[in-house]
Amino acid sequence: MRDVAVIGVGMNRWGELWEKSLRDIWTEAALEAVDDAGIDRVDAMYVGCMSSGLFVGQEHLGALLADQLGMGPIPGTRVESACASGGLAFRQAWIAVASGLHDVVLATGVEKMTDVDGGAATDALATAADQEYESYHGVTFPGLYGMMARAHMHQHRTSRRQLSAVAVKNHRHGALNPLAQYPQPVTVEQVEESVLVADPLRLLDCSPVTDGAAAVVLVPLEDVRNLTKQPPVRVAASAHATDSMALHDREDLAWLASTERAAGLVYAQAGIEPGDVSFCEVHDCFTIAEIMVIEALGLAPRGCGGSGAESGATALGGKVPVNPSGGLKSKGHPVGATGVAQVSEAVLQLRGQAGGRQVENAHWGLTQNMGGTGASTVVHLFERA
Ligand code: COA
Repeated sequence: MRDVAVIGVGMNRWGELWEKSLRDIWTEAALEAVDDAGIDRVDAMYVGCMSSGLFVGQEHLGALLADQLGMGPIPGTRVESACASGGLAFRQAWIAVASGLHDVVLATGVEKMTDVDGGAATDALATAADQEYESYHGVTFPGLYGMMARAHMHQHRTSRRQLSAVAVKNHRHGALNPLAQYPQPVTVEQVEESVLVADPLRLLDCSPVTDGAAAVVLVPLEDVRNLTKQPPVRVAASAHATDSMALHDREDLAWLASTERAAGLVYAQAGIEPGDVSFCEVHDCFTIAEIMVIEALGLAPRGCGGSGAESGATALGGKVPVNPSGGLKSKGHPVGATGVAQVSEAVLQLRGQAGGRQVENAHWGLTQNMGGTGASTVVHLFERA
């Protein structure tokens, strides 16, 4: 396997982009990444997308977007793993370069979610749960994560205040990100007075429904100096793991076994410990998710993730900043794009180009992207080369 580097990143402002099509937002991000890398050819492209058929009535994205890129009839592959589609698309691109199959690969993600109404968006997202045993009975993603939150609160005494602290922190970080959908700071009181969605989760505990895209360019590390003047960022490790799809099949509702497995693999591949990680971008689709993810990544002891945001340990300037971009909560969550946007943020941080949200002395950056309630997880580790 060859060492791989990321040399270009692109992401547009996320939000309700009614004036643009899926094709438009994807193209903006893809061309920005190509420009940032300073390359004039792409050998293959991957696109992570969960459900363009249900959201905008368009499938066959691999061919559509490869054609749209206008860089020849290159292989174009769509990757789907629910909300982890982007992370998995990046992993396929990494495999293609590491294996020697291709030399210049574009990894992208896109989702256009706001062209349908809220009910249709909720139904489309619910296809990522177990259709027969969960969605058919009416449970939605806020409902599933609400149950996980209740289990965590019951077993570990995680408090309402600790959930709120995650939202407050991530909106504070998002206020420093010019591309975030909801960059406004929020207070604990605003979170706790926002409308109840699925007990105990309130509106400001939830990631929003978002239109957006992101793209990155991968090449062999040895070719970086000939291709670009951008500081190289090495892909130090990549892992993918799955878990039972339905929550009721899990031994512990308050534990993310697929994240634990994928994280263990990346630490072993890179030869580092969780304590070495400088910052991470994680899948805070709901506030409880960030608390559970940092435990499964080994950044907090099991059952103790709730204190991270409350104590300031996971804030910018804290021991290990979590979601300096604002996370899904504030930056937005166009499901297929999220995993690639996490990589884009990690690369900007490791290049020292993250502006007002820069993590000081960042050396190792970790990204964690998961599908559904953690039935699939992709974890990547990046190093300033
Ligand atoms: N964070 C911050 N503000 C939000 C928000 C969020 N997550 N969601 C909506 N808002 C704001 C909107 O801007 C709007 O403000 P306005 O009235 O001033 O314009 C207001 O809150 C109401 O927004 P609206 O879009 O009408 O809310 P909604 O009730 O249709 O949807 C949720 C809110 C939480 C139900 C929806 O965002 C949701 O389903 N989120 C979860 C998505 C999901 O499950 N993703 C997959 C995860 S695995």
